[in-house]
Amino acid sequence: MEIKHFPDPLLRKKSEDVKSIGRSEKKLLTDMAEIMYLNGGVGLAAVQVGIHKNMIVVDIGDGLKKMINPVISKREGRVAQEEGCLSVPEKCVNVKRSKKIVVDYLNEDGQAIRVSAEGLLARVVQHEIDHLFGKLILDYLSPLKKICNSLTTRKL
Ligand code: NI
Repeated sequence: MEIKHFPDPLLRKKSEDVKSIGRSEKKLLTDMAEIMYLNGGVGLAAVQVGIHKNMIVVDIGDGLKKMINPVISKREGRVAQEEGCLSVPEKCVNVKRSKKIVVDYLNEDGQAIRVSAEGLLARVVQHEIDHLFGKLILDYLSPLKKICNSLTTRKL
């Protein structure tokens, strides 16, 4: 399993909802978390390892969250911040996103979870959900915005 990098067309394909959670889904989430940690990331979507299922892992430093079929059900405010991405190495882009969100998902036991998030967690979840739709930070570039080169920006 390896991280796909832009411009790999696999990153542009939309992911699909997980219908049932079995051993292979749980194994995938564990493997995704391992790859995320190995690469110093704070989030990873399954599509980034070439698997088109709606699954993401997030750890902003307060513990690993495994989210299956995540959906944002509420948004509030707007805030811009620079983001890096494990699939777009050594680049970062200033991205405007919702400040606060509510995200609904299934955990790996199939339980429905609802989390209110703000700050970095809200940003990472929105970034990873973008991946599920085939969207990358580069899509937020406008002619007036520059790609920043950064090794210190968090990788999502
Ligand atoms: Ni990313």
